[in-house]
Amino acid sequence: MSTNKEAWGSRIGLILAMAGNAVGLGNFLRFPVQAVQNGGGAFIIPYLVCFVLMGIPILWIEWSMGRFGGKGGNHSTPFILDTMGKARFWKYFGVFGIFTNIAVASYYCYIESWTMSYVFHSISGTFTGMEQGAVADFFNTYLTIGKSTTGIPYEAVVFYVICLALNTYILSRGLKGVERAAKIGVPMLLIFGAFLAFRGLTLGTDGASAMHPDSNAWDGLNFLWTPQFDSLSNPTVWLAAAGQMFFTLSVGMGTVHCYASYIKSKDDIALNAVSAGFMNEFVEVVLGSLIVIPIAAGYLGIDWVKENAGFGMAFQTMPYLFDQWGSVISNLAGVFWFGLLFFAGITSSLAMGTPWMGFMQDEFSFSRKSAAWSFGLIILMFGLPTVLIYQVATNGVVDQIFFNEYDYWAGTMSLVVFATAEAVLFAWIFGMKRGWAELLSGSDMKVPVFFKYVMMYVTPLLLMAVFFGSLFLPQG
Ligand code: PHE
Repeated sequence: MSTNKEAWGSRIGLILAMAGNAVGLGNFLRFPVQAVQNGGGAFIIPYLVCFVLMGIPILWIEWSMGRFGGKGGNHSTPFILDTMGKARFWKYFGVFGIFTNIAVASYYCYIESWTMSYVFHSISGTFTGMEQGAVADFFNTYLTIGKSTTGIPYEAVVFYVICLALNTYILSRGLKGVERAAKIGVPMLLIFGAFLAFRGLTLGTDGASAMHPDSNAWDGLNFLWTPQFDSLSNPTVWLAAAGQMFFTLSVGMGTVHCYASYIKSKDDIALNAVSAGFMNEFVEVVLGSLIVIPIAAGYLGIDWVKENAGFGMAFQTMPYLFDQWGSVISNLAGVFWFGLLFFAGITSSLAMGTPWMGFMQDEFSFSRKSAAWSFGLIILMFGLPTVLIYQVATNGVVDQIFFNEYDYWAGTMSLVVFATAEAVLFAWIFGMKRGWAELLSGSDMKVPVFFKYVMMYVTPLLLMAVFFGSLFLPQG
């Protein structure tokens, strides 16, 4: 148990920090791609069902666990789980959660560092006048050989180190640093996002129609938002929806527990959890779907989007499309887009640092500064394989090996395993009666009793189904 007496400065600070934790690169880079790959509108219903039956209940479980553990002065997942479970196993299980954070942060911070570099290149006008192919090549070169011919992507390494240094610095300022980053980052990304969405939606009447006369931004939106009920019988779409839900809400890793452990024991968690969760969903389904897909559909046509939508589009295609907007708006749009991604990314990667920080402070009596440094260094070490060997091209087909492995094992499977175990721990070992009382204590909202049964039966069973589904079904 630590002597750490930190606490959130204000309710809005807490909500913004939790929302910043959830709103991340996943909202803008992962969601649109998942949606397109799962048939656009076919994705929406399973996605929303997963939000209600798994997302919200797990958020409540994690917030309750965190505040409960925090009352005893515990701020890291191993100790928080230990206070709930009273068996050695749970402590070790918490350590597993910490390593999930390390693994996810190792590739996540790398993408975050690209956004920093792309802000810089947008300001300096690197993409001005470039052909579509040249913009795409720029990204490949950035990641593979940079400006040298030795195979080390120097520029990418430099930005990665700067990005980690910034994370380390903010973490070393403690909870106050995290709260301030969220208070700046979240509003900024909302402003940037609103600008891009507005500009994107008005496409189709100007330059876009000249490039692709039959298409406008609304085709992209129709594609994403026209629900298809037959998708309800497709298990692959369900799996993808559940996977996206875990990732976007940042559950199943311990970040939410750790943030919640700094909530004062009399403060509300039920309403705050829902507020932060809804804020994330708003950003994901509204802003996340109003930028990349509509803009690309407007310029390049919806068929192009269906065929080419992928994670790289944000970096390989967007700068080119922004350039078509003309005048100052082009560079500004690039700064806004990559700035938005950067703020979304850093408020999430800071969250990934807190379980480790809490653990080092609780268990090994590290000072805040040393804990932050150790996090920066460990991420540097684990991230280097992705940085140095980002992609391997075999006969022109590029594969991101380390990246994909980290994303699959840590960013997908571990989240499900962790969430399943904690749902069982909460409802069946800690006990639903105590769990429900914990959730309601200090609550500013009336939680429908229906959720008590959802948390006991539906959520754990669905989680198990997702787990076995991911083992046996092909990934969408
Ligand atoms: N929710 C974040 C995103 O959407 C990712 C994340 C996962 C952050 C787990 C923290 C913990 O990008």
